[in-house]
Amino acid sequence: MLSEREKVRKYTVKILLFIVCILVFASCGKDDSDNKSVTVNKPINVGFSQLGAESDWRVANTDSIKSSLSRENGFNLLFDDAQQKQDKQIMAIRNFTQQEVDCIVLAPVTETGWDTVLKEAKEAGVPVVVVDRRVDVENDSLFTAWVGSDFRREAEVACKWLESFIKAKGIEGSSLRIVDIQGTLGATAQIGRTDGLADACRENGWQLLDCVPADYTRAKGKEVMQSLLNKYSDINVVYCENDNEAEGAIEAIEEAGKKVGNDIENGEILIISFDAARSGLQLVLEGKIALDVECNPLQGEEVEKLVRQVCSGGRYEKYTYVKESVFSCDETVKTVMTDGEELPITLLTDEILAKREY
Ligand code: AHR
Repeated sequence: MLSEREKVRKYTVKILLFIVCILVFASCGKDDSDNKSVTVNKPINVGFSQLGAESDWRVANTDSIKSSLSRENGFNLLFDDAQQKQDKQIMAIRNFTQQEVDCIVLAPVTETGWDTVLKEAKEAGVPVVVVDRRVDVENDSLFTAWVGSDFRREAEVACKWLESFIKAKGIEGSSLRIVDIQGTLGATAQIGRTDGLADACRENGWQLLDCVPADYTRAKGKEVMQSLLNKYSDINVVYCENDNEAEGAIEAIEEAGKKVGNDIENGEILIISFDAARSGLQLVLEGKIALDVECNPLQGEEVEKLVRQVCSGGRYEKYTYVKESVFSCDETVKTVMTDGEELPITLLTDEILAKREY
């Protein structure tokens, strides 16, 4: 028979052994990096270099990517706003590479000048997902994948609409006197939209009076429009390469005592814009922007999907285009043909605007 003291001692030893076993198992789980459950729970470290905050579109794009690459979704996000400066973006990419993040997301300000820094990231084994604008590099293997818009197609849609619009109104192409308020020079969005307009002007005999950059901002859009109004007395179409520029241009036109609208035969100045952000669509509803071609900033979900696939060694597309629509202030043109496809032009309504997220 065991004495009471021995029984207590035996029980204590058993309990201690049990606790030691639990601790050993728990610590094995924490330190063993090959352990599956630990790998699944480890956050994915992402460095995101955003070019700036110049427009409503950009702010919506940043918000969309930040909310997809969130802590709750299993990411640890390092964010850098380059304030429209390429050298700041290059510095951010170098920092992210040195910190050995799992993936870099880059929204580049312009197309060229990325070869060296992307080579460094590649050599360090850090994949780079490019969003929105493109990078023009000597070898496409310097970036892993891209997601964004077809800016050239956006321009073609806008110009096809203008072609159909003036035809429906019986206006001669040669009577169009167009100015182009461009985006940041060297950005893919600027190149695609400017080139698309220039080609359409050549093909249709439209007069392209001037092309002036305004960096996608409302303030510069206004400034540029003021100087264009001083230089040319008979502008009848203003092609703004984003909504913020259009807002500024409209302000300048109205302050100069002129009227915006699509009745160009009676002296109104017709405005075409890109983005279809809430602020731009409000002007479409008021009849001040005739056509707003959507450029979709909500790229977060696609970026998240890509980053996960890239980091887990899964399959992914090199190029992904986001879905986009076109909005007009009247029903003169209901569809346009691009690339053999009939694209609907949506008449903007209060209901559509009320649902706009950004
Ligand atoms: O690259 C996309 C363009 O950049 C958007 O049209 C513009 O608003 C933004 O700043």
